[in-house]
Amino acid sequence: MDYFEIEGKNKLFGDIDISGAKNAVLPLMAAAILNDRALTITNVPKLSDSITMGNLIKGMGGEVNFDHSSIIIDPKKLNIPYAPYKLVKTMRASFYVLGPLVARFGEAKVSLPGGCAWGPRPVDFHLEGLKKLGIDISLEAGYVIAKSKKIVGNKIVFPKISVGATGNVLMAAVLAEGDTEIHNAAAEPEIQQLCLLLNQMGAKISGIGTNILKIQGVENLGGVDSIKVIPDRIEAGTFLIAVAATGGRVRLNNVEPKHMESVTSLLKQSNIDIEIEKDSILVTSTGSDMKACNMETNEYPGFPTDLQAQWMLLMSLSIGDSTIKENIYFDRFTHILELNRLGCDVRLHKDHAVIKGDRSLIGADVMSTDIRASAALIIAALCAEGLTSISRVYHIDRGYDRIEEKLVKVGAKITRKK
Ligand code: EPZ
Repeated sequence: MDYFEIEGKNKLFGDIDISGAKNAVLPLMAAAILNDRALTITNVPKLSDSITMGNLIKGMGGEVNFDHSSIIIDPKKLNIPYAPYKLVKTMRASFYVLGPLVARFGEAKVSLPGGCAWGPRPVDFHLEGLKKLGIDISLEAGYVIAKSKKIVGNKIVFPKISVGATGNVLMAAVLAEGDTEIHNAAAEPEIQQLCLLLNQMGAKISGIGTNILKIQGVENLGGVDSIKVIPDRIEAGTFLIAVAATGGRVRLNNVEPKHMESVTSLLKQSNIDIEIEKDSILVTSTGSDMKACNMETNEYPGFPTDLQAQWMLLMSLSIGDSTIKENIYFDRFTHILELNRLGCDVRLHKDHAVIKGDRSLIGADVMSTDIRASAALIIAALCAEGLTSISRVYHIDRGYDRIEEKLVKVGAKITRKK
């Protein structure tokens, strides 16, 4: 299994081109199977998750071709509404196909997703929402069996905001008879793009970008030639935090600054110099005078949970102590153990972490546990004295497009080893 070897204490200078958003491309691929027309998705990041979703669609009889940074999906011959455990267990987002399959075929058999590194991730909101649309849901041997002669619009109020459940229910509701309202809908940019694609296909969705989506059901959906994936705000945020921590001056290109306001404003509070340009962000840092700032994760437009581990590392190097409250996944703190092995001093107190600042990190052998924890470990290694080896980098390959190439380009000493 590949591992990264990183020599720390190098500031970063230059330009990084940000890739398309992993968490946008996956729902767009799921939406592509709602009708029988080919769709080209461009600006697709080179990630194992996009390949997994492609394999899932191919397994159902659809055609999927990758062409550099584009995916061409032709769902015409797709006729097996089945998502097997062996694929769904490797990528939770496979569960997104449930809504589209039952909307198009009136039935679907989709494996329940497994847990993940930091604990259970239920899908009860997805299932309750689909049931409200008149879909019969049963569970059999780890699979969700969905059946519906007719999907009927309804009012759905999620107990808490869920990106995946919003996507799944939305993709069923667009072909419902009658109108649907989704309250506590996710407003994440990735869901906004999904809504825009569905509307381009002929759906009638309003309230995009708010927490109340209104959908007028339509008979069927037309084709769309192509759609360009929005920039990955989590990849961009990861690199902003990396430069803030190591010190240096880097311009991130192909970003959407308005998707990152919660991150750029907190970085500014922490004494990091941020210059917002039209589709790029210039970050400058000494790497030594960051000010500790307390942070809480929240649904969009709040500070994203997917940058929590990275922020924790930055606070460990900042002047002063700080806290992090994780409001999305209360147990998303498995990275604390590995960060502490590198010299951080983070303690867990009930529902928040307390971070000692001003730490000096020393390289060590550490292990990735999930996509974003791995990113935090890479940043820590870039700031540590000496050599760090990070094992199980397959986690990082799921969510970051050639991260080591992008870091080497701006002066990091990181190599992938077999
Ligand atoms: C999406 O996951 C992202 N994944 C996650 O990114 C991200 O952390 C998460 O949204 C929150 O922003 C993709 O988009 C592929 P949720 P999702 O449903 O949809 C609870 C990454 O690293 N919940 O918004 O699975 C859930 O436990 C990944 O890129 C239920 O209780 O997240 C959590 O506490 C990690 N029941 C909260 O809601 C449900 O049925 C939000 O989860 C669904 C969710």
